[in-house]
Amino acid sequence: MTAPLHLISLNDLPQAEIESLLVRARDLKRGDTQPTLQGKSLGLIFFNPSLRTRTSCQVAMFQLGGQTVLLSSTADFWDLETQEGAMMDGEKPEHVKDAARVLARYVDGLAIRTVREPGPRYREDRRDEAIHLWARHSTVPVFNLESMLWHPLQALADLLAMRESLGSLQGKKLALTWTANPQPQQASVANSLLLAAARFGMEISIAHPAGYELDEQLVAEAKSSTKVRECFSMAEGVEGADVVYARSWGSLKHYGQPTVEAAQRGKLRDWIVNRDLMARTRDGRFMNAMPVRRNVVVTDDVIDGDLSLVYEQAENRLHTQKAVLERFLRT
Ligand code: CP
Repeated sequence: MTAPLHLISLNDLPQAEIESLLVRARDLKRGDTQPTLQGKSLGLIFFNPSLRTRTSCQVAMFQLGGQTVLLSSTADFWDLETQEGAMMDGEKPEHVKDAARVLARYVDGLAIRTVREPGPRYREDRRDEAIHLWARHSTVPVFNLESMLWHPLQALADLLAMRESLGSLQGKKLALTWTANPQPQQASVANSLLLAAARFGMEISIAHPAGYELDEQLVAEAKSSTKVRECFSMAEGVEGADVVYARSWGSLKHYGQPTVEAAQRGKLRDWIVNRDLMARTRDGRFMNAMPVRRNVVVTDDVIDGDLSLVYEQAENRLHTQKAVLERFLRT
């Protein structure tokens, strides 16, 4: 049996494939939906809450004639063992490899959100072991609905929203800016956007407070294909930008030290996107993956303004996921 194709990060797809998914998503958005996945089932497994991802995946499968089976780790099943060779005489009654192999006998694809609270060490979380374990043991395609490192389907929806608003992205300026947030988040959205925007030839600035650098390997990868500038000032970062993408992420400097990180984060409340900041851009579109903390991450007047793309981004999750599901599950 040949190994199934999985979608863990957008790096799994060649550029031509991403282009064709975006074109198909645009057509689907215009109403070209057929029951191409009739009789197909998608397993949806969530280890963390979701509003957009869960709903858009379920509706996508429904509109394509298929169905979903939803499993939430908090309500529907038990803690899964992940260690290879474990003596399973503790709290965890099932190994992830058995869960993956069994579910793959029922469904045609497994879409999984494995992102969770950060562990004590970044180098371990960075391996993104949970999503790779599912992929290793599943005999049907695995779709990453957000892991510690990546959120590929969000990036695909973001690319579509930017193209709809700006046309070609080549040479357009993306300002990815860290914003205040009382709760640290994983950098999965920022990482996926960074590499996706770089592949499409956008010029990128990354603004963040000291200690909140993104993963240096991923920044280096982006720099290998486009111009990337890092700075410690939002005002500097957004100067002349076509897009301002607001996102918070945890500090790598204080990774695994939640009390220290919270104290640091508490001093950074002025990292908010407001009208004065947007005035420095070139008719900059405001973007955010949501959920968004209004008047902490961004002021109401900006997110509710004419240049805000947040609802297009959210809607595009539906269309881009339909394109992906058709591509991977259609036989
Ligand atoms: N952007 C996003 O993934 O939203 P949810 O967490 O609500 O799924």
